[in-house]
Amino acid sequence: MHSEGSFFSVPKGMYLLSHSVGCLPVQTSRVVAQKYFAPWQQKGGDAWPEWLGIIEQFCHELGMIFNASDVDICPQLSVSSGLSQYLQALPPLPNKQKRTVLMHATAFPSLGFAVQGLAEYGFELKLIDKDIAPNDLDAWQAHMTDDVAVAVITHVHSNSGELSDIVEISKLCRAKQVQVVVDVAQSAGVIPIDLQDWQADVVLGSCVKWLCGGPGAAFMWINPAHLDDLQPKNIGWFSHENPFEFDIEHFTYAQGAKRFWGGTPSVLPYASAMVGVQQIRKIGVLNIYAHSKNLQRIVLSSAATHLAKMINLEQSGGTLCLALEKHLLDRLANKLTQSNVYYDRRENSIRLSWHIYNTEQEARKVADIFDSL
Ligand SMILES: Cc1ncc(COP(=O)(O)O)c(C=O)c1O
Repeated sequence: MHSEGSFFSVPKGMYLLSHSVGCLPVQTSRVVAQKYFAPWQQKGGDAWPEWLGIIEQFCHELGMIFNASDVDICPQLSVSSGLSQYLQALPPLPNKQKRTVLMHATAFPSLGFAVQGLAEYGFELKLIDKDIAPNDLDAWQAHMTDDVAVAVITHVHSNSGELSDIVEISKLCRAKQVQVVVDVAQSAGVIPIDLQDWQADVVLGSCVKWLCGGPGAAFMWINPAHLDDLQPKNIGWFSHENPFEFDIEHFTYAQGAKRFWGGTPSVLPYASAMVGVQQIRKIGVLNIYAHSKNLQRIVLSSAATHLAKMINLEQSGGTLCLALEKHLLDRLANKLTQSNVYYDRRENSIRLSWHIYNTEQEARKVADIFDSL
């Protein structure tokens, strides 16, 4: 096992499902017991300062991974909920004009649902056809008609593994004054991300996959340059500039992204996620990326001849989404199952994810399975 692999509890067999749930860091249960349960057990309500400290640390760790300030990061229930909160916070257009939200048809469906759920607030979903490549800049440009207010870009697509060119697509958006929202759910923790390079308006993600933080700890980064224009609607006392003012007739938005926070915060998912993000930060996303690509290269050297569509590893995330003809796909699936491999299938492809706790030996074993097809 790669030495960094010993930092995680990896299920028996070959675990290639990090695009779904990243493995539990060995430290998590101890730290959660110490920082979340022990203060509750020993101090009851006086645990709050320590609990809030966990969330501060969570935002700080994420900020270090993304080269961003923790003030610009706010916990969210999920990626789709974060998108919904952001859209509702945008200033309304005069005369109740429609506001179109553009995304590629292979974006995660939940984000499309979030937009459709806001139809009565004037939001309308527009999709770039799934047969057009997600990085086709001409297609993005052509779809950015005057009604488009927001573009949602998926950094790494969950069913194809394709990586979007955020900088180039964002440039087109900025030229048309279209707000840029980036979904990093499938890239945070495995693809190095520098938010200063992107200068997006909003970045949404969660910790359940490559950040190894467990479910329930999603997050939102808001570009501080545009924060003052945003007036979240789903607010509570933790969205207030001073949560402890307690004057029901006076509400002022918090200065930073925390204006999106809401009422009494959820803590437990962030205690778990903080350890995951910290572990990933200590190992280094660049190291994880290099390791993942090395393993993917080993698999591809044997898989390539069977693929319906070749994969460019420079333009993909941590998951090999291998599209094969149906009869080959079934045979491959059987062999993977017999070899105790954790994997899943989407449409005509099999998804195999390579994280820091996976090994060259595992990659070679999968390559041998391809050779035997
Ligand atoms: C690209 C992408 N975005 C978002 C999500 C999850 O969104 P949510 O947190 O709203 O469930 C996933 C989950 O698989 C995903 O792959």
